[in-house]
Amino acid sequence: MIVTIDGPAGSGKSSTAKAVAKKTNWYYLDSGSLYRTWTLLYIMGGMDMKVFLEFLDSHNVTLHASDGDIEPLLNGEGVGDEIRTTIVSDNVSAVAAMSEVRAKVNEEMRRVVKEHDFVADGRDLGSVVFPDAALKFYMIADLDERALRRKKELESKGIEANLKAIRSNLAERDHLDSSRDEAPLTKPEGAVEVDTTRMDFEEQVAFIVNAIKEKVE
Ligand code: DC
Repeated sequence: MIVTIDGPAGSGKSSTAKAVAKKTNWYYLDSGSLYRTWTLLYIMGGMDMKVFLEFLDSHNVTLHASDGDIEPLLNGEGVGDEIRTTIVSDNVSAVAAMSEVRAKVNEEMRRVVKEHDFVADGRDLGSVVFPDAALKFYMIADLDERALRRKKELESKGIEANLKAIRSNLAERDHLDSSRDEAPLTKPEGAVEVDTTRMDFEEQVAFIVNAIKEKVE
């Protein structure tokens, strides 16, 4: 079974999906981590599109699931927090707009969900990748609130963060992710919209967990 949570960056979908997965004993699938890992490779290639296109055939990004946890691997090696840096965030929308990259990411996600139950978050999971998902959510929140949350999240990981820079990165990514030709960010058909701007974290987790319980029972 798969439950999808799509929405713009910083809307709370990843922390919510993670908490929901923990409560339901399902795996949490972070589709953005795959785009970020490909972006890391793009940066390693000197941000040269020609080099990157060659890398697409000679390197691989896979998901490795074990002990309730799932992580992206670049050529079989874990990438850790290297995929959360500002330089990766600044380049990920361009890399994620490439159809070659999207095809590889989607193939890998569809492979891994055959083996486990998942709460997955992203931009196009309910609309393109898993249109038959058991439950779909579309999570949104005001831009200022999202910027504040992302700042706190980075700081909790010891990464220095500037609110203005984060806000403009989020606004830019909203624009790029929603206006691209390939699988743009949009509310999937049949998705339940959850506006988390003034929602308590526990509240939004409980809302989704209850919906899953109703569906499963
Ligand atoms: O969720 P995130 O901020 O880590 O995602 C990073 C980028 O990856 C985001 O700006 C757009 C892209 N992405 C996408 O295009 N499709 C997805 N399903 C998930 C992420």
